[in-house]
Amino acid sequence: MKKILLTGAAGFIGYHLSDFLLNKGFEVYGLDDLNNNYDKRIKQWRISQLVGKKNFHFTKINIVSPLNLNEYFRKNFKSNKLDAIINLAARTGVRKSTLDPDSYYRSNVIGVLNLVKLANRYSIKSFVHASTSSVYGKSRKKNFKITDDTNRPLSNYAASKKASEVLLYAYHMLHKQNITILRLFTVYGPAGRPDMSPFIFIQSSINSDPINLFGTGKQQRDFTYVDDVIVGIYKSLKLKGYNVLNLGNNKPISINHLIVKISELSKNKIKINKKPPNPEDVPFTAANISRTKQLIGWAPKTGIDQGLQKTLKWHLKNKEWLSKIKI
Ligand SMILES: NC(=O)c1ccc[n+]([C@@H]2O[C@H](COP(=O)([O-])OP(=O)(O)OC[C@H]3O[C@@H](n4cnc5c(N)ncnc54)[C@H](O)[C@@H]3O)[C@@H](O)[C@H]2O)c1
Repeated sequence: MKKILLTGAAGFIGYHLSDFLLNKGFEVYGLDDLNNNYDKRIKQWRISQLVGKKNFHFTKINIVSPLNLNEYFRKNFKSNKLDAIINLAARTGVRKSTLDPDSYYRSNVIGVLNLVKLANRYSIKSFVHASTSSVYGKSRKKNFKITDDTNRPLSNYAASKKASEVLLYAYHMLHKQNITILRLFTVYGPAGRPDMSPFIFIQSSINSDPINLFGTGKQQRDFTYVDDVIVGIYKSLKLKGYNVLNLGNNKPISINHLIVKISELSKNKIKINKKPPNPEDVPFTAANISRTKQLIGWAPKTGIDQGLQKTLKWHLKNKEWLSKIKI
């Protein structure tokens, strides 16, 4: 049976990926520090859905602490070889990274260094790391190719992710560590992040609460459904060498369009409070996925209507406890 260490297992994508890998017959070692970057109750809910499943082992641990991480590896993987590390643990969200840059650089750079050192020491073949479309900054290109400039980040979040990409490249060059960098584009779906627009807009429409709209709403995002992203992460496990891939829907829509779609689906009009634009927000994201198709045969399958419908269904099913989640 294949064994995977999955960091950020209580996170939005980590929760879905854990479930997917367990269903595929993997043994999943899930790590997360369960921090309060956003309302912890949703992380606890996700973990409660996983704990007790066969072959899922969860440990609360902070990847920034080398001592704890080393001890964890020694205890679990000395005579029990891991096939891969998938690193999804990160401080997420662009706006908060202006207020608290230290925690972003600690988790998203030092945390990655701690993990790749152990990958190297324990001869773990595959290291898959989540990066972000935010590394493309203010690009005005029709869509973003992996060879495009990523040296002009607009946020500490983007800068920390770019730093992690470069750090991992050096590790590949020095130690021949196989590294796959996946640049994810605005992921949404059930049990999503309460600091992201699809979650906020859906919850607000259900509760008839007004939403804050930063800027004109004309900014576009390449919203990508979580199940598609999970399949992309899974397929990338086989790659060797150093690879960078975009995982994005390749069909951006504006925030205004997202609001209209959610209003239509939920049959509730969404009230809007206009707010000034955020300097960390990029105007547009869209993935060029030709290299992803070529290397792992991946293309997204879920259109925005279908994805939002599934997401709304989950919010309605979990309405009671979700009403207490802070957004
Ligand atoms: N969701 C998106 O739209 C998106 C887009 C681009 C990139 N990504 C990347 O994908 C990954 C997963 O994102 P997500 O949306 O699931 O975010 P998330 O915030 O829901 O999940 C990240 C998880 O990592 C954990 N974590 C953070 N720092 C940690 C540390 N030092 N030690 C242990 N655990 C720690 C958090 O508690 C959280 O549960 C992240 O690396 C993120 O940067 C996500």
